[in-house]
Amino acid sequence: MNEPKNPIKLKEPSVYQLGLWPQDEKNALLPDLPYRERLVRLLMGNLDYHGHDTGYASHDFHAFPAKFPPALPDAFIRGLTAPGDAVLDPMMGSGTTIVEAYLARRRGIGSDIDPLAYLISRVKTTPLDGEALRRQLYAIIDRANHCIATQPEETLAAIGARWDQKTREFIDYWFALETQVELAALLQAIEAIAEPAMRDFFTLALSACIITKTGGVSLAFDLAHTRPHRAKVVFTASGKKILDADPEAEISPRTKLLTKRLRSAIVEFRKRALQNIQSLSELPVTDFPVDLHLADAQALPVASATVDLIVTSPPYAVNAIDYMRANKFSLVWLGYNLSQLSETRKQCVGGESVMDFPFEPLPPRTAAIVEAISAADPKRGKALHRYYSEMTRILREMHRVLKPDRAAVVVVASSEIRRIDTETHRCLAEIGETIGFEVPGVGVRRLDRNRRMMPAGHIVNSDSQIQRRMHEEFVIGFYKPA
Ligand SMILES: C[S@@+](CC[C@H](N)C(=O)[O-])C[C@H]1O[C@@H](n2cnc3c(N)ncnc32)[C@H](O)[C@@H]1O
Repeated sequence: MNEPKNPIKLKEPSVYQLGLWPQDEKNALLPDLPYRERLVRLLMGNLDYHGHDTGYASHDFHAFPAKFPPALPDAFIRGLTAPGDAVLDPMMGSGTTIVEAYLARRRGIGSDIDPLAYLISRVKTTPLDGEALRRQLYAIIDRANHCIATQPEETLAAIGARWDQKTREFIDYWFALETQVELAALLQAIEAIAEPAMRDFFTLALSACIITKTGGVSLAFDLAHTRPHRAKVVFTASGKKILDADPEAEISPRTKLLTKRLRSAIVEFRKRALQNIQSLSELPVTDFPVDLHLADAQALPVASATVDLIVTSPPYAVNAIDYMRANKFSLVWLGYNLSQLSETRKQCVGGESVMDFPFEPLPPRTAAIVEAISAADPKRGKALHRYYSEMTRILREMHRVLKPDRAAVVVVASSEIRRIDTETHRCLAEIGETIGFEVPGVGVRRLDRNRRMMPAGHIVNSDSQIQRRMHEEFVIGFYKPA
């Protein structure tokens, strides 16, 4: 194995680097057992992972909804595979599984249809020289400041030339003009970097300044879990009021809530980039590079019978989290137009559009749930049928790429439609069995309400059975027999 290029500077002692990762002790008991038995033991263990560190190495580079805790893929990777084995996440999101595979010296393979997920996962698994990044960061900031001071309009016009009318209007609605100039100047400086991995690193740092819980440098509030709201009253960093949606209106508590003090994109970018450079120094150089794809999990660009373990979490049934809604705030800056992004959104598992959709036949229990929901709400019943059809094709692909005597670990939550539980874990288990998987166990994990970003509708107080369910996830073990 090559020596790391970077001197390792840790924020605090990192358990994985000290070889003291908590699951190692438990897993040390497992290697002698057959694979299937190890899978069952892991599924029956404690899968909650409350209080575990989630921010080591590159895990915190960028916000992403419904990430799972790194300790979850880590436990299955270390318990079921050996260094050099292939670990796949076909819906990798922010790449939690891929980072854990990388840290454990397994060959991470990932795919996602969201270009932002693809960028995040790539950057999080590419070690770079910290000193070179620091020098590059200051060059970017100098260049951007120079453009802002000398030719702000030309800089914005050059970046703006890539947008169609609708995208332009979106940018004008959601970003103050001075933020637009700052972002355009930063982007121009980043795009001039010759080395692709470095360019990606800084592009991601820029995106991370836009997509945050508080809406980052945009005029939005909350790009994490609800429909974004635009600020009603906006002050610049220096205290100048630049927007007042309704100057005559009395200042109500709601207006106060929707008042935003803009932060400088240059300052935020510098902070974020420095933080990510520091964290990247925890990422060792390994001899097992990752293999990532911008691809649909229903048609994986992966050869048959080559994968040793899959750990993944698909979207919730029926668009409970709209990934594109938040991600488009930075993807428009990266050169995507809204029309392209709405095409990607249509391909997302769990979407609602069913026009010309190729439905799959469903096994009995799953068909009965779809039927019950269709009786109460035909449109959403169809959307649920779409979801289970997509998951049928994805499970088929997972079965194809797995080696025999190997497993897929799939983390799902149930949803409620018209007060009927979609029973996602039971339906997926049933579908998996019709495809040729065995399902030797389904683990339950209780969500840490303080940490997990949930869709707003799922945050409830009552303790009815279905509502309790919303604070649980199911970890399904799909075993491909030898
Ligand atoms: C729950 S998130 C995964 C989160 C991930 N486990 C993490 O820790 O960041 C689900 C992901 O599935 C992706 N996805 C949705 N439809 C897809 C498809 N047809 N093919 C591949 N990925 C898809 C979404 O873009 C999203 O990134």
